[in-house]
Amino acid sequence: MAEKKIVISQKDISRRVRELGAAITKDYENSRLLVVGILNGAFMFMADLVREIKHEFEIDFVRVASYGMGTTAGLLRFTKDIELETRGRDILIVEDIVDTGHTLMHLSRSFEERGANSVRICVLIDKKERREVDIVLHYVGFQVQSGFLVGYGLDCREKFRQLPEVYSLKEL
Ligand code: IMP
Ligand code: MG
Repeated sequence: MAEKKIVISQKDISRRVRELGAAITKDYENSRLLVVGILNGAFMFMADLVREIKHEFEIDFVRVASYGMGTTAGLLRFTKDIELETRGRDILIVEDIVDTGHTLMHLSRSFEERGANSVRICVLIDKKERREVDIVLHYVGFQVQSGFLVGYGLDCREKFRQLPEVYSLKEL
């Protein structure tokens, strides 16, 4: 059994998503923007965020699995890569939460190596306590210190993704 406590309300999420969308709209005027969501966790954030970006752009998704999680040697394997061209594009990666930072570091590098013009990161939640690599997060929804969070796309063993707000989970 697990007990859940609400940490970010639906109202706060929608307000913040609108602000992020407005900032992204402004920053990517006249860009060849490609927004890349990381499956599965980012699906709900991505769906809300792209509706707040007010110009033409393209959307694609990746799905990644990591080897050696939690080690500095953590490697990334695409179980689904994007299908659109990366060369010359301004790529905005959309992720649910950053923890150690390995996933986003490897993904950014991979797009840079494939000739992207720029790579930036938009993350709903920046979880600070366990960061292992120094990465720049250009757009951050919320910062939390620690804890295991679920809801609004985030899961615990594939459950709770459908919840419209974010909860912290306490194992009983
Ligand atoms: P990182 O590579 O350690 O930054 O891992 C980030 C990935 O771990 C995210 O894409 C999430 O899938 C997962 N993750 C990290 N913290 C949480 C959490 O609190 N709740 C749900 N998933 C998490
Ligand atoms: Mg994830």
